[in-house]
Amino acid sequence: MSISIRETGTAGSSTNGGLAVAASGSLPPLSLYIHFPWCVAKCPYCDFNSHALREALPEARYIDALLADAAVQAPRVAGRSIETVFLGGGTPSLFPPAALGRLLERLRASLGFSSATEVTLEANPATVERGRFAEYAAAGINRVSLGAQSFDSETLRVLGRIHQPSDVFRAAEELHAANLANFNLDLMFALPDQDVAGALADLVTALSLQPAHLSHYQLTLEPGTLFAAQPPPLPAQDLAWDMQAACHAVLAARGFAQYEVSAFARSGRQCRHNLNYWRFGDYLGIGAGAHGKLTRHAGGRLTIERSTHLREPRRYFASAAGGPEWRTIPAADLPFEFAMNQLRLNEPFDVATFSARTGLPAQRIAAPLAALEGRGLLARSPALVGNVWQVTARGRELLNDVVQSFLPTTNFDAAAGI
Ligand SMILES: C[S@@+](CC[C@H](N)C(=O)[O-])C[C@H]1O[C@@H](n2cnc3c(N)ncnc32)[C@H](O)[C@@H]1O
Ligand code: SF4
Repeated sequence: MSISIRETGTAGSSTNGGLAVAASGSLPPLSLYIHFPWCVAKCPYCDFNSHALREALPEARYIDALLADAAVQAPRVAGRSIETVFLGGGTPSLFPPAALGRLLERLRASLGFSSATEVTLEANPATVERGRFAEYAAAGINRVSLGAQSFDSETLRVLGRIHQPSDVFRAAEELHAANLANFNLDLMFALPDQDVAGALADLVTALSLQPAHLSHYQLTLEPGTLFAAQPPPLPAQDLAWDMQAACHAVLAARGFAQYEVSAFARSGRQCRHNLNYWRFGDYLGIGAGAHGKLTRHAGGRLTIERSTHLREPRRYFASAAGGPEWRTIPAADLPFEFAMNQLRLNEPFDVATFSARTGLPAQRIAAPLAALEGRGLLARSPALVGNVWQVTARGRELLNDVVQSFLPTTNFDAAAGI
């Protein structure tokens, strides 16, 4: 198993385990993920639900489908308000500001946004014409995530990117001018033929554009992609670690604190939307292939349901008005699901939060916590009172192992008497 380090919602589980779990406390914060499944061209490394656009963008039709999708899901979140919205893809910036403005206005009315909702737009630097960011800001976008990837023209060509380094410089300038200084740059490293100096040069250039947040991903060969079938000449893993260590040191020195496996932010500029995923919060998912997760308290029990939508745009159009498919996560899977999210974060976690989020007793994860402590991969947080834990530096290096320790085992359930 490997932990996916890029986030657009998590995969659903199958059947209802039917375990009785205690329900107490309030519901977690609620987010909204909106997926836009088209791109100008498909990048050879990308396994996201994105499809090269071969005809005119079905702009109005897609916005209508998203609204119908949201309308059918709205009763499930009645009385709650949306704290964060993420327009991801694909390339949502293919949609003009007026279309996204109409969408956001209608969603605000039907779902209810909190007074300070974070609204992030994922943008490809090549798709944003001059002046567009000011219009996106007027349409309600208050945070942007820009896919820079690299500032080396030849590398961008090999990656199949449709933008040039100059597009990112211009986009960053426009973001600052449009009062959208709260923006993220996505950067990849361990790119074809890259060395440590090349990775550092990309990072230093990215930081010169004054982003508030930086996501730093190691290029991975995802099954089913063109790169997996025909791999480019990638640096050896030892060299990739050297690049990562050198880049992390520069980020720290420039005031970007790491708060997740791949996420770095200036003080107060963490992505609230992704933080809610990682803290095992709730989210609605609308759009082709979008996933959702909702917590329910009913009859003294807490249950968590996940939703999935069909990935292929044509099939989504046909099914959107009926909403997604919902499945209850078996209680036995919840410790792993919680760990897979929460342990990506550098912050300590309280076992009381585990119980509040999952409805399971602390005893349910006592055995993996003790075993991981014994291996030096988790430690009790000495500065904090309560049952508070932190992944150690060694644990971060072996995060897959750490998370796998929370997988359901029949032996463990029997031993714990649950
Ligand atoms: C949802 S994607 C796409 C955002 C936007 N469409 C773009 O490409 O500009 C978010 C980020 O994941 C990263 N990413 C995508 N595929 C990756 C891979 N195979 N390995 C590492 N990072 C990847 C890229 O940095 C990308 O910007
Ligand atoms: S532009 Fe982004 S979402 Fe689209 S194919 Fe490339 S990496 Fe994937």
